[in-house]
Amino acid sequence: MCGIVGYVGPQDALAVVLEGLRRLEYRGYDSAGIAVVADGALSSAKKAGKLANLEKVLADQPLPAATIGIGHTRWATHGGPTDRNAHPHVSADGTVAVIHNGIIENFAALRAECEATGVEFSSETDTEVVAHLLAAVYGSTPEGPGRLAEAMRAVCRRLEGAFTLVVTHVAEPDTLVAARRSSPLVVGIGEAGDGTAEYFLGSDVAAFIGHTKQARELGQDQVVEIDRTRGLTVTDFSGGSVEPKAYTVDWDAAAAEKGGYDWFMLKEIAEQPQAIADTLLGRLSEDGELVLDEVRLSDQELRDIDKIFVVSCGTSYHAGLIAKYAIEHWTRIPVEVEVASEFRYRDPVLDRSTLVVVISQSGETMDTLMALRHAKDQKARVLAICNANGSTIPRESDAVLYTHAGPEIAVASTKAFLAQIVACYLVGLFLAQVRGVKYEDEIAAIVEDLRQLPDAVERVLEQMEPVRALGRSLADANTILFLGRHVGFPVALEGALKLKELAYIHAEGFAAGELKHGPIAVIDQGTPVVVIVPSPRSRNSVHGKVVSNIQEVRARGARTIVIAEEGDEDVVPFADELIRVPRTPTLMAPVVTTVPLQVLSCEIADTRGYDVDQPRNLAKSVTVE
Ligand code: F6R
Repeated sequence: MCGIVGYVGPQDALAVVLEGLRRLEYRGYDSAGIAVVADGALSSAKKAGKLANLEKVLADQPLPAATIGIGHTRWATHGGPTDRNAHPHVSADGTVAVIHNGIIENFAALRAECEATGVEFSSETDTEVVAHLLAAVYGSTPEGPGRLAEAMRAVCRRLEGAFTLVVTHVAEPDTLVAARRSSPLVVGIGEAGDGTAEYFLGSDVAAFIGHTKQARELGQDQVVEIDRTRGLTVTDFSGGSVEPKAYTVDWDAAAAEKGGYDWFMLKEIAEQPQAIADTLLGRLSEDGELVLDEVRLSDQELRDIDKIFVVSCGTSYHAGLIAKYAIEHWTRIPVEVEVASEFRYRDPVLDRSTLVVVISQSGETMDTLMALRHAKDQKARVLAICNANGSTIPRESDAVLYTHAGPEIAVASTKAFLAQIVACYLVGLFLAQVRGVKYEDEIAAIVEDLRQLPDAVERVLEQMEPVRALGRSLADANTILFLGRHVGFPVALEGALKLKELAYIHAEGFAAGELKHGPIAVIDQGTPVVVIVPSPRSRNSVHGKVVSNIQEVRARGARTIVIAEEGDEDVVPFADELIRVPRTPTLMAPVVTTVPLQVLSCEIADTRGYDVDQPRNLAKSVTVE
């Protein structure tokens, strides 16, 4: 959702905070703002639109030089994306500046309370109330070190909802205070060139990865005070001392740069072979066994599982849909896949022998987090598949299997998706191994199939030029449909999602067999229909049926765009456009067939002149329900 940055140290705070915001802009780009304390005054600037707009404002009206500052990039929730609603929000008396990620659910009551004391609000946001409350509480908090942190704790105890807050106060020019509840916040601790300690706050480590890899994880309902001389102090909301967990970030700064590509998305598509290889690394033994030490569930607990739910959102949900085919096939355990935002509201049947697999690239998605908490309340065991080390979802889960895709900056998920499929497959195979439902040689053969995937994806990537040309030719389409069967069906859903979010074109994914039950009526002369064709060698023999589906849509005037494996000649007569992918075992096919769909959407969006990395109305991590 929103991106949050804070800095205390010897460097130029404005430059450090702006750099952090640039790296976090993918989290929200409706507006941006910054505040610094310098020369006994609090100064701030903010502007609707992308960070570049704020940078223009700062070029015209520079803020004073400072070594402490906070910055925010917003994804609007309460109040539209206007200058007024941009963060920071400053208290009416001009003493406190606040930036916020999340939603303060009881803000209306708190706002009424402030207004009753004569405070005039200058925005429609829920955040502004925190600035006014803090200014008021600060006035009645005893003087002395830690005063701002004490005021912050008092205010946080009154807030309902999810929030990360960072505040600065004109009377404490060497201190930043931050708080978190159900929203992300990490602290970076570094050493500046002159050997002085410096501190960073960020919604995620990308904010400070260019400066330090030493981080501290903040837990639920904690307040952190960063003081230039006293250093770092973490407490709970009641003031009880807390020792934050230290960790070293394993991403390097280059991973968060475009590295010569026009878009992060293109770079991340190209990184997919590595993302898959890294996700497999160390988890497959030489003799084809699965080694998943990170799954902190005992063999007995794994043997007791009698039902699996996979719960996630958007692209991660599609990874779950694909995983269902493999996990059920390999383990014979029933698997249900649900969007997280629906899961807990329908009272699913869960108990100690249920395994809930939550999949989240960011590890912060609120819908998924709430589903996880519901599952834990019902005593189910929760295993997270996550790409962000130390984020909330893996921290609250019983077990975690990290995907090692590296930082994913483009809002549209690509490499994390393929890594999620692979990680789900590892979980499925591991269950099969522990429960003894597959013979060793069968598991070893599937492990070998997994090992082939990075090469297979590499080969797809080498053949993407015609797909780009095809994308350019599709840029004027009004509707594009995607069809698939078996594991190709979720791939079709994912293809349609990518196109919608990047190119703003109406797109739908269908199970190819469902077409004749209604959707075929929308096909018109020239409607592009992308068909993901299973291997002719597929064990469930849906290949022939999909070839028939291609003919059906073509007979109604569709322009058929067929994704089929090398050597499949059956599709040739019916394909207006043919995209070849390497021969791959059925269950592995989604990992290769997804790639051309990513490239296609990226190219169409680029041709239409859109920002591929930051599509309108979206944000990378959705930390509100
Ligand atoms: C689409 C996309 C989103 C995310 C969804 C879940 O390209 O990226 O649909 O997949 O918001 O996010 P995570 O995986 O971070 O929980």
